[in-house]
Amino acid sequence: MIRIMMGVFIAMMCLNAAYAVDEIMPMEHHDMNVTDQRISLNLSERMKRHQLADMRAHLAAINGIVGLMTENRFAEASKLAHEKLGLTPEMQKMCNMLGNEKAAAMGLAFHKSGDELGDALATGDVNRSLSALHNTMQYCVECHATFRQ
Ligand code: HEC
Repeated sequence: MIRIMMGVFIAMMCLNAAYAVDEIMPMEHHDMNVTDQRISLNLSERMKRHQLADMRAHLAAINGIVGLMTENRFAEASKLAHEKLGLTPEMQKMCNMLGNEKAAAMGLAFHKSGDELGDALATGDVNRSLSALHNTMQYCVECHATFRQ
């Protein structure tokens, strides 16, 4: 009897957890049940590694910028944005190597927004900077929703 009750209790906890996740991330939860509909970039193994390393650097840059903003270090945050998220010759080359016109265009627009973020941060205006950061992060979200490696 105790075993059955424990079983029922555990099953209820699991259902509860699944429901809670569904409430927080309804889209992700449903996406897990269907096949990955995103467009594959068909990258080579070498390009895949290179791209993921760049991506991790993008994430670290966002984290660095937010951290510097909390310490009112806007000049450094601006430099970080231009150097790590802006349209440097290296990033321009990388985007053009994606082998997909739409993805390359999205990547280039993303890096341009990184430079705009750098310009916004240089003003030291918190709201303007957050708005620019939001704009830049829209590209992260949009590209990830559209493409996979
Ligand atoms: C132009 C497209 C594009 C943009 C813009 C983009 N990414 Fe990505 N990112 C990708 C693709 C494609 C993958 C691989 C996803 C997959 O295959 O499931 C990826 C993967 C990642 C990963 C996983 C890295 C790993 O080691 O597994 C992280 C983290 C990431 N991106 C962060 C970011 C952040 C943060 C931004 C914005 C600041 C961003 N990306 C902008 C295309 C993009």
